[in-house]
Amino acid sequence: MPSASRPAKDFFRPLAVGAPQPLHEVPARPSRAIHFFDPSNQKMAAKIPAMVGSVDVLLGNLEDAVKADNKEAARQGLVDIAQATPELGGPDSKTQLWTRVNALDSPWALDDLTTLVTEIGDRLDVVMVPKVQGAEDIHYVDRLLAQLEAKAGLQRPILVHAILETARGVANVEEICGASPRMQGLSLGPADLAADRRMKTTRVGGGHPGYLVRQDPPVNDLGVSDHEAPRSTYQQDLWHYTIARMVDACAMHGIYPYYGPFGDITDVVACEDQFRNAFLLGCVGTWSLHPKQIAIANRVFSPSVEDVRHARRVKAAMGDGTGAVMLDGKMEDDASLKQCLVMVELAEQLAA
Ligand code: GLV
Ligand code: MG
Repeated sequence: MPSASRPAKDFFRPLAVGAPQPLHEVPARPSRAIHFFDPSNQKMAAKIPAMVGSVDVLLGNLEDAVKADNKEAARQGLVDIAQATPELGGPDSKTQLWTRVNALDSPWALDDLTTLVTEIGDRLDVVMVPKVQGAEDIHYVDRLLAQLEAKAGLQRPILVHAILETARGVANVEEICGASPRMQGLSLGPADLAADRRMKTTRVGGGHPGYLVRQDPPVNDLGVSDHEAPRSTYQQDLWHYTIARMVDACAMHGIYPYYGPFGDITDVVACEDQFRNAFLLGCVGTWSLHPKQIAIANRVFSPSVEDVRHARRVKAAMGDGTGAVMLDGKMEDDASLKQCLVMVELAEQLAA
């Protein structure tokens, strides 16, 4: 996991469109739960200041789930909240301030970026860009941010996070990750992606009882299969392929992969399962759509005490980090040590 910050000046270097981007490191700040709120909803907005310090990221959402008539109110609401809550966002804050702007082909995206960078750019840590189709979308946001930052005299670059939620975006995932040194990470957008792929689901994230495999039928002594016999079924993960692709693309470019929304707020058990699958596959965090999902995300995206204890034992047993040792009847070597170091580093970053 990247652990150092890239020097700020590097974020402002001219972007050679089409040229291979160097691997880079983005600041490693905990972002296990990205908690979404609608800044045009006054009841929700009133709760935000009290949440600072108890969640890794607060994200003012301007895109889907905000009514078209409320887009300006949401944008202004986010400015007001940030200005009234000085401890939210910026390099020293315990809680980062992110926003999800409207899609780049909507009538609002340009005003979203212009207003937010001008008014609260020194506090805004990450801009989440929805429906990213290819590197060109990131280049556009990168250049616009560079202009607006220069005009506002900002010293710290605002980072960019893309939502992977179109088939074209998935096809271009590697180039999206490497499109700008500002790239902080990627989230899965399962609802839009399902629609774009014409999947036959109606949910926001999570599994589906129809997406399953069935145990083979039992075979009698004559070798005939009994297709009428009761058989177990196993539900499969609809999102495995996309998350795995996303994780590889992010790892290749040194940025962070995230799961996305889990829409069934009442099903905390399935939510935790979906988050854990993503964590085990390499994701560092997820979205939270309700305060009760924050606790689930914090628990799931922090390594367990047992895993960290085991990882530290392997580290100690491996001495100089080469060769093989036996621990509790299992073989440990350079490669298993590397996995253990991921766990130890994450525990240390979260404890810092
Ligand atoms: C999120 O934006 C989604 O479409 O799932
Ligand atoms: Mg979406």
